[in-house]
Amino acid sequence: MSSAAALDRPSGQSVRVLFFGDVFARPGRVFLAENLPRLRERYAPDLVAANAENASGGLGLAPREARALLEAGVDVLTTGNHVWRQRGIGPFLDENPRVLRPANYPPTAPGSGSVVVRAAGRAPVAFLNLEGRIFMSPLDDPFRTADEHLERLAQETKVIVVDFHAEATSEKAAMGHYLDGRVGAVIGTHTHVQTADARVLARGTGFITDIGMTGVEDSIIGLDQAGIIERFIRGRPTPFRPAKGEAVAMGVVLDLDPESGRCLNIESFRHRG
Ligand SMILES: [Fe+2]
Ligand SMILES: [Fe+2]
Repeated sequence: MSSAAALDRPSGQSVRVLFFGDVFARPGRVFLAENLPRLRERYAPDLVAANAENASGGLGLAPREARALLEAGVDVLTTGNHVWRQRGIGPFLDENPRVLRPANYPPTAPGSGSVVVRAAGRAPVAFLNLEGRIFMSPLDDPFRTADEHLERLAQETKVIVVDFHAEATSEKAAMGHYLDGRVGAVIGTHTHVQTADARVLARGTGFITDIGMTGVEDSIIGLDQAGIIERFIRGRPTPFRPAKGEAVAMGVVLDLDPESGRCLNIESFRHRG
């Protein structure tokens, strides 16, 4: 980890959220748990969130690993298209409102797509998890789902952070601009590759197409290279093996204004051990 100075807050009352990209398998979980204390010291976040859809073996989130991430100090876990892959996650979501699944799954799905969390002495922050539909499974319209949730969440707080778990950059950009001025930030997850476009949009919403991954970077989006290359060159399914090696944590720091709900600053990060 570099020894750069702590990041200054734009205002005393602003709410700072540290958001980590898809935590991938054991290397991602271990890296996050071991480095979170140092990252907390550096950024002094009020709340910490992470997308955990790949936390268990690279596919899904088992209750045990979700609990460990919460115990390590992550306040809110979001997920995505792999959310249902591990046994027991349905009842776990129902019992743990800080662990989200995308809001645009059918209403009968277990769990919830949004939660409001409050850090001591700060304004409450709403987290909303949505999933894209381009090159992904068919789900309810994430744009209309966002409208429905925002109507309710806006009654509880002005500070709203959206994790839009999606593949297509166009769909992610469309969501950012669609929600511009209505939420504090729209951050993309799912591709595991951090994009260089973190910025505040015209009406005050922080946006980035993808915040990246917390896992082994010398990999193919977290997986061992050999098996994935084999899939491409032979056109046959191969075992899904998480890569081993040094991990990296990618994500963003968001500074949000509690009065207006606007993003005062969005900054992406990549930290090695
Ligand atoms: Fe992922
Ligand atoms: Fe995903």
